[in-house]
Amino acid sequence: MKKDLFITFEGLDGTGKSTQLRRVVQYLRKLGHRVRVTREPGGTRTGERVRDILLASRTGNLAPLAELALMYAARAQLLQQVIHPALARGEVVVSDRYNTASFAYQGYGRELGVAAVRAFDQVICGSTQPDLIIVLDLDPERARGRARGDSNRRLQLDRIEAAGLAFHKRVRAGYLALARRAPERIKVVNAEQSIGEIQRQIRALIDGLLSRRGK
Ligand code: TYD
Repeated sequence: MKKDLFITFEGLDGTGKSTQLRRVVQYLRKLGHRVRVTREPGGTRTGERVRDILLASRTGNLAPLAELALMYAARAQLLQQVIHPALARGEVVVSDRYNTASFAYQGYGRELGVAAVRAFDQVICGSTQPDLIIVLDLDPERARGRARGDSNRRLQLDRIEAAGLAFHKRVRAGYLALARRAPERIKVVNAEQSIGEIQRQIRALIDGLLSRRGK
């Protein structure tokens, strides 16, 4: 029986992704699973340095393909250092974003297309694909409003968050299109609902996955 599990959280900033992820991790640990939590871009010392380049406003205009390559550079490091070893130990890996973000943000948002992203993905991720991808879906204007909730955050919009509304609309549409293509793995949850209701739906998805795996 395959013991390891790989679950990723996706969606625009301001959809409540990190809150939901934290609760899911608590839930899985209560069920007795060993859980390794990580985030992208970043999650390793080198990956966090790459993240700084990707998100710092002073980076300015980055060629979309350079952005894509840096996302996958950080991911390659994370796979080797964290994800592969944890899965090999039979742990549950929960990541705040993974490769679906590159398809949505770079493939759709930056309009590089799915084929360009897939080319990187085949080399770098290969068969290490998530078992379950939870997409928290919210209208980009609402998401932006939430991400900017407090005035401190407003001053700190990172380079990608600062991309316009049209970009974020393409990203959202991208996530939804990807989910339509792979409905068995990519599950869309409406992030307009209450925190409790969203969590309930996510746990139901995870329970379904666990019971299919016989755990
Ligand atoms: P995130 O850590 O979720 O941002 P925050 O710390 O503000 O919650 O992600 C950083 C940004 O990187 C986010 O705007 C999405 C973007 N991103 C991509 O464009 N492509 C990718 O492959 C990944 C992993 C993230």
